Amino acid sequence: MNFKDYIRVIPDFPQPGIKFKDITPLLNDGPAYKEAIAALKELVKHLEIDVIAGPEARGFVIGAPLALELGVGFVPIRKKGKLPYETIEASYDLEYGNDSLTMHVDAIQPGQRVLIADDLLATGGTIATSVKLVRQLGGTVAGAAFLIELGYLTGRDKLEGIDIVSLLKYE
Ligand code: PRP
Repeated sequence: MNFKDYIRVIPDFPQPGIKFKDITPLLNDGPAYKEAIAALKELVKHLEIDVIAGPEARGFVIGAPLALELGVGFVPIRKKGKLPYETIEASYDLEYGNDSLTMHVDAIQPGQRVLIADDLLATGGTIATSVKLVRQLGGTVAGAAFLIELGYLTGRDKLEGIDIVSLLKYE
């Protein structure tokens, strides 16, 4: 299956010059969505994984089905103010200003091997922050898995030493 056929590229969204990769056509097609998750499962099979963590919101639609496929749990990484229990927080820079990601303090058990999953690796800021949080909780980052990697934004450079897999690449 050519998964790129299911990704809609929207020019100038959310701002001029950005070619937004819209994954909703893929999510909308049952067999394509299922096959994409199965393909990701295949790509991470060499990793030892105890639990998957994914940043909101699009990380949920990749991370949670992948967790079900692998038979492991899923941990949400959320923007500040969304998680109800005690949290840890790490902030990251955006093009304008900054934002914070949070995790519940008991989301990861020390020593657990965590796969971080998201729809897209762009600048790597979101995942670098997620890595920081997982490590702060005593987890080991087993790898990072993405539906799409934007090679030209060199997000990989922020994730040195981490095993990164992606299903689709845009150069
Ligand atoms: C998008 C995307 C990734 C992140 C990638 O999420 O889903 O999580 O940006 O960008 P980066 O590699 O430059 O950090 P966004 O923050 O737009 O949130 P959303 O999933 O809730 O739309």
